[in-house]
Amino acid sequence: MEKYYLTTAIDYVNGAPHIGHAYEKILTDIIARHYSQRCDDVYFLTGTDEHGIKIQKTAAERGITPKELCDENSRKFIDAWKALDIDYNRFIRTTDDDHVNTVQKIFKKMVEKGDIYKNSYQGLYCAGCESFLSEKDLTEDGLCPHHLKKPELVSEENYFFRLTKYKDAIIKHIKENPDFIVPSFRANEVLNQLEDIQDISVSRSKSNVQWGIDVLDDKEQSIYVWIDALSNYITAIGYDTENPSEKFKKLWPADVQVIGKDILKFHSIYWPAILLSLDLPLPKHIFAHGWITIDESKMSKSIGNVIAPVDVLKNFNMENADAFRFYMAASAPCGKDGNYSDDDFKEKVNAHLANSMGNLLNRTLSMLVKYFDGEIKEDFKVSASNELVEGSMSLLKTAVGKINIVKNNFDNFEIAEAAQEIIDLTDITNKYVTDNAPWTLAKENKMTECGQVLTTVLDVMCIISSLIYPFCPNIAKDMANQLSFDHKTKLDNLTFDNIKTGKIIEKNDIHPVFLRLDSEFADKSAKK
Ligand code: MSP
Repeated sequence: MEKYYLTTAIDYVNGAPHIGHAYEKILTDIIARHYSQRCDDVYFLTGTDEHGIKIQKTAAERGITPKELCDENSRKFIDAWKALDIDYNRFIRTTDDDHVNTVQKIFKKMVEKGDIYKNSYQGLYCAGCESFLSEKDLTEDGLCPHHLKKPELVSEENYFFRLTKYKDAIIKHIKENPDFIVPSFRANEVLNQLEDIQDISVSRSKSNVQWGIDVLDDKEQSIYVWIDALSNYITAIGYDTENPSEKFKKLWPADVQVIGKDILKFHSIYWPAILLSLDLPLPKHIFAHGWITIDESKMSKSIGNVIAPVDVLKNFNMENADAFRFYMAASAPCGKDGNYSDDDFKEKVNAHLANSMGNLLNRTLSMLVKYFDGEIKEDFKVSASNELVEGSMSLLKTAVGKINIVKNNFDNFEIAEAAQEIIDLTDITNKYVTDNAPWTLAKENKMTECGQVLTTVLDVMCIISSLIYPFCPNIAKDMANQLSFDHKTKLDNLTFDNIKTGKIIEKNDIHPVFLRLDSEFADKSAKK
């Protein structure tokens, strides 16, 4: 694998990030970190989507400029992603100069190609979606199905994109590439939407909307939202209509574009059409994740159940975001909706990260110190001719086999499924310890057998620390340190024999990698 380029949706900045936004960034960061264990050149893009009528209105209400509002709120996303260890390469803001300039050129190129034309238009505009809706899209009461608000009737002269010109090519692409849209059950939904698509409005009159990118040769119009927003995926890496950068040539097409299910239409119809218009290849995968609910209800300001990710970290007094990352990523199977609840969070991370994984490492290292002064001896290692404890070879084979299973999960964007495989491996390893009771072997003075059980477990722990790294980078590094194992080891270099021989740890260096979450914090969760 030469490179891996992945993107998230860019978030609107009319508020602070909530755990729905966080879910997507966590998933994408986990995918990025996993591929960094398989390839040297991973590029991860995220950012904020800053133009639009909502920002213009909110800023006016607060008596500040739209740019001031964007600066203030964009910062909240940057800070939240830092707290969650989201390790992106670029945070693009659609107000960045390079983006603005390139979007103008993109628009111009599409006009020159004959794909954009001017027309007068009357339509129903939903500011929440930042898009025109057709009567058919509305609920029985005439509301936008996503925002449950009445769209505004807008009548003005706009530029239109000839989406219909690309309809057949997109249908063909989806049919010929069954893994273009992930999960595949969403592809039919998109094919149905494609049946009756129309050309779309891609600009707004400056008299109504000022907070947008100017059309180069027509100062009366702002390029509106979707061409602006979607183009970030190429402007961020140096696309140019005449002279694209080397970086762009290397990274494009994206390997995966991670988005929520609500904006799949924009990414699997509008975006491919824009790319085809620019004569650019389409991304390899569009991965539409499900939505996160809170205590099984939709997150909404009116219900008052919107949770900021940093509040979860604070309320549970967590020194890093590993447990939250793990929980969120494991909360829903590929593409399905998930749920966050304080109690479930506490219960799951205590069970999986503290009891099953953390304890396993802690007690195995403690026994290694107690019985062998922290030393792994050569004759503890398992081989075909030196399997002193039955089941040791089979456990090692299972662990090495899991690496491919997890890789395969990631190739299919089955992130929660990958987390489950890792937890299963810790459970199997715990069972191996219980079945072979190294403490009894030591009592019976079967020291080499006892050493073999401990060494086998620690060899597996190296694999577990590597596999858990994308989810829990801090815990994984701590585990690897205590194992004297290089946490940067690529997945393909993991074997049956990962732990080095000799003294690997001192008694005082053993410590729990994850402390159980205290129940008293659960009730205090401040929901804003
Ligand atoms: N700005 C557009 C995206 C443009 S991409 C070129 C947008 N912004 S958003 O802030 O409304 O949403 C950003 C992302 O967060 C979307 O992928 C959306 O699906 C996701 N989520 C917003 N709420 C969510 C949940 N409750 N749960 C999971 N993801 C959610 O759309």
